[in-house]
Amino acid sequence: MPADPHAPRHHVRPPANWANDPNGPFRWRGRYHLFYQHNPYALTHTDMHWGHASSPDLARWTRHPIALTPTPGGPDEAGCWSGCVIDDAGVPTAVYTGIDHHHTGLGTICLARAADPDDESLDRWKPLPEPVVAAPPDGLETTMFRDPFVFSHTGRRWALVGAGHADGTPSVLLYDCEDLTSWRFAGILLDGRHPVAADAFGDKAVGWECPQLFETARGDRVLAVALWDGDPRTTGYLAGSLEPDDAGGLTFAPRTGGRLDHGRDFYAPAVLQDHATGRALLWGWSWESRTPQEIERAGWAGVLTSPRVVDLHPDGTLHTAPAQELELLRAAAPFVTAPVPTPLPDAYDLRITARTRITASLLRAASGAGLTLCLDPAAGTVTLDRSGWPRERSDGAAPLVLPAGPLGASELEVRVLVDGSLLEVFAGDRAVATERFYRRPDDVSELTVTDDTVGGADLGDRAEVTGWALVPPTND
Ligand code: FRU
Repeated sequence: MPADPHAPRHHVRPPANWANDPNGPFRWRGRYHLFYQHNPYALTHTDMHWGHASSPDLARWTRHPIALTPTPGGPDEAGCWSGCVIDDAGVPTAVYTGIDHHHTGLGTICLARAADPDDESLDRWKPLPEPVVAAPPDGLETTMFRDPFVFSHTGRRWALVGAGHADGTPSVLLYDCEDLTSWRFAGILLDGRHPVAADAFGDKAVGWECPQLFETARGDRVLAVALWDGDPRTTGYLAGSLEPDDAGGLTFAPRTGGRLDHGRDFYAPAVLQDHATGRALLWGWSWESRTPQEIERAGWAGVLTSPRVVDLHPDGTLHTAPAQELELLRAAAPFVTAPVPTPLPDAYDLRITARTRITASLLRAASGAGLTLCLDPAAGTVTLDRSGWPRERSDGAAPLVLPAGPLGASELEVRVLVDGSLLEVFAGDRAVATERFYRRPDDVSELTVTDDTVGGADLGDRAEVTGWALVPPTND
């Protein structure tokens, strides 16, 4: 069978069937391990296992056997849902959501230990027979409870759990889990009624899934969540600090917030505080946005994004940029070094710098419509227009405007990572959009760059373009 041109070949995904959230990014003995929600038997979001891949450098990934499998009769009999992986006194330990056949959105918190920590592959895991948290805390009318995330603060180990409550309020619950086998509920870290959260996220979500927390270079904290069940489902971040509360727990005091990713095809963040390199890395799930029939024909659904380095700018807004290691995927010589019409390969890494308002087209439909990026340094925006490629979801085709920099800047840079149907646009280091697009047979993959202010394609030094094909394919 010819290779599927829509299949990303440089991003983590299973060989076939369903994938969703990244889980438990973890560095062990110098290697990055990344797990993900995976149904190995069907193209449906059911019967979740944990898929597993690892990489020496965040760029080239090797697939491993499935790490976690539901245990018949166990607390995860109907699914091993999202969670994290930590080093528990030298033993890699997955802390995850167990779903049984009676669940109603309320998970339990389960542990699985690496069967042999000296086996660096981390291929074999042993689930504990009983959950460490069997039910949400009493008295909070919790209707959603899942996705533990373990972190350290003030020399103690804590965990966040995503939650939603009967009155429609989303929250993040806090546990003290210094002893990983004995968890104590320590209060509500934050809920959706906080004015900064309400302002940053709107009031769309009835639950916060996949809560993640990281420390920035300047010592601030960022809380990232997936906003469930808004329409559209999106993700957001809040920047602030952890504060002790009167009961010996912690609360999160947010100061600012915004979108974690501005695209329509990004969800379920997972963060690794990478102490070895002094940075925080973030991945997300990119779902398909094509018809069920097309998905059925393709035989696979869902891919993880590129790893992004996340931090805060001094003004409290999110800094987000591709991990530098992704440059290892670039072919030795660029395929384009100037803003001239150029055919584009299936997978590429493109850098465009604009000193005036320009439009870069990445793809042209037979109708003449283009998939375009308009870089406007004076306005500090990058606008992605993909209206010529209709979407399956009802979230509209309106152009996406990405806040890329301060007003009146003299120059703006965009990084475009394309891998099959996965498009990640980084506007400066201030905003990213993850979108899926599926080329049709009569589309033309060609880069053209035009000057919007004077017209024409002769850009002189008003635009710079460098692009590399991605090599080698790792997922064949
Ligand atoms: C987010 C999510 C998580 C859950 C997992 C199940 O996409 O709904 O909250 O643990 O997916 O696959």
